Amino acid sequence: MVKKLPIGVLVSGGGSNLQSLIDHIDQGTLNAEIRIVLSNNPDAFALERCRKHGIPTAVVDHREFSSRERFDGRMVEILNAAGVELVVMAGFMRILSPEFFQAFPMRIMNIHPALLPAFPGTHVQRKAVDYGVKFSGCTVHFADEGVDSGPIVIQAVVPVYEDDDAEILAARILKEEHRIYPQAIQYYAEGRIRIEGRKVHIRQPLPEAVAKETGSASPPVPVPPRSSD
Ligand code: GRF
Repeated sequence: MVKKLPIGVLVSGGGSNLQSLIDHIDQGTLNAEIRIVLSNNPDAFALERCRKHGIPTAVVDHREFSSRERFDGRMVEILNAAGVELVVMAGFMRILSPEFFQAFPMRIMNIHPALLPAFPGTHVQRKAVDYGVKFSGCTVHFADEGVDSGPIVIQAVVPVYEDDDAEILAARILKEEHRIYPQAIQYYAEGRIRIEGRKVHIRQPLPEAVAKETGSASPPVPVPPRSSD
């Protein structure tokens, strides 16, 4: 049995991305174990989802800390105590301090509901509609100290129709988020990701027989084939 990737998930709200990770783990398409779910918001519905599935949670309410560094320091303590290897941000609405990034260098993933580098920041579905783009989508990336600026792992594209409003577009994008986030984490779990500067390389999966022998990869998730232009 290949070792499961221990992850910690940071949430602030509804947690539909968290739910998709839980579902993929249950279905056996994501070889990870959610060691802890951390929320800065005591009322986040994501916490309710955890209770249902017996997943450990911790609430670290930012309002109870005198500085961002102290708040982040507490989160780092909890994540380390839980043995987390990869930190997964899933709708976490706080900006992290440099100290947090130093604690998990290139070991923090985020999902953003736009095609980066277009529309970083917040309310991006509305911005995409208002701008009049014909396509938008979502981006899984490693988080760095900038805003939505780290190396990109996977993107998915959705059309934007003329009569879309922000809510309709957000729902269309969310469906894709639920598909590509578990996939990106699975690539990481299989040790197939190599980061070189801004570029994320995803190597092809090992043949199953070799994977079994070396114990280095779980059931392969195919990398999309390259089209011959
Ligand atoms: C998602 O759109 C995600 O891209 C963004 O915040 C939203 C979180 O939604 N970072 P949910 O809490 O996972 O439902």
